[in-house]
Amino acid sequence: MKIIGTGSSLPSLSVTNEMLSVFLDTSDEWIRSRTGILERRIISDENLKDLAIEASQKALDDAGLTGSELDYIICSNVVNYYVTPSISCLVAGGIQAACPCVDLNAACTGFLYCLDMAAAYIAAKKAKNILVVCAEEPTRMCSWKDRNTAVLFGDAAAAAVVTEGDAFRASRISAFHRPEVLYYQRPLEDCPFVKYQQRGVPLYMNGKEVFKLAVNASTQGIENILADTGLTADQVDHYILHQANMRIIETVRTQLRQPPHKFPHNIESRGNTSSASIPLLLDEMHRNGTLQYGDTVVLCGFGAGFTTGTCLFTWTMNE
Ligand code: ACO
Repeated sequence: MKIIGTGSSLPSLSVTNEMLSVFLDTSDEWIRSRTGILERRIISDENLKDLAIEASQKALDDAGLTGSELDYIICSNVVNYYVTPSISCLVAGGIQAACPCVDLNAACTGFLYCLDMAAAYIAAKKAKNILVVCAEEPTRMCSWKDRNTAVLFGDAAAAAVVTEGDAFRASRISAFHRPEVLYYQRPLEDCPFVKYQQRGVPLYMNGKEVFKLAVNASTQGIENILADTGLTADQVDHYILHQANMRIIETVRTQLRQPPHKFPHNIESRGNTSSASIPLLLDEMHRNGTLQYGDTVVLCGFGAGFTTGTCLFTWTMNE
């Protein structure tokens, strides 16, 4: 498998830390020093599905394909206005695709899970051209009265088109049962036969525990993928990690003894955009020329579940 196009779309509203401190007991200094975030884009007038369609269309244009040439659409999404139909079906309508569509919820690790699934479909010759699109609005999961979570997130959609090729060299996904450290529960409709109450709980996160799990899982995931491919950490050009917290990225980098320029970040202006964060950064690096043909790239994510994923590939665009 190889990536042949990327695209992304952001909401227009930029919300600074100062804007949050107007209604939350927080400060620019606290958010900046604990997370690295200075501002984030938040959906106001837009719809997530429209951002997903725009990101997908840009990725198709970049790949030189039309929607009708796709064999599969896999969309990573945790929440959006529609529970059904799937957001991947809504995207298909927007880009004139007529292929099978499926949504996948692996929280912030979604892009890694989508790529792993796409690689399996391509290897099995069940599909040739696959659109992977990650569309997330975590700002609709947290309580805007909770400073522990509301300051962390931003919204975005980002996509990649993949096809047959030999650029992908290894992929690993995993999950372990730790729902209590990070969860969001939403209410369902009342039913006369249900004897208990489900009120819904805004996003809850044990930040310190997630921090530790994230650092350990990311460092271990990268070491495993290096062992799978027989490469050393020094032979990788770019480590694109889930953008959840600058201190997590820095701790992983230090443990791998790598220089800062190999760990790109955009968390300062985007916040944590859940599964969209890795393809969003990938798209920015592709478009600003940071990624060069032949570069070795590692992607690494973690999220609620607890889910983790890592992959390693050669960048085959920008030749
Ligand atoms: N502004 C000011 N003070 C705050 C804020 C805020 N926004 N949030 C928390 N505080 C306070 C706390 O109440 C606490 O006060 P106390 O000591 O009086 O109780 C104090 O700041 C310190 O809080 P800590 O939890 O110790 O802060 P920490 O340094 O651990 O940073 C953070 C918190 C940023 C959440 C960090 O733990 C983290 O990044 N964890 C990982 C988060 C993450 O990666 N999430 C992924 C989500 S993935 C998904 O699928 C959605």
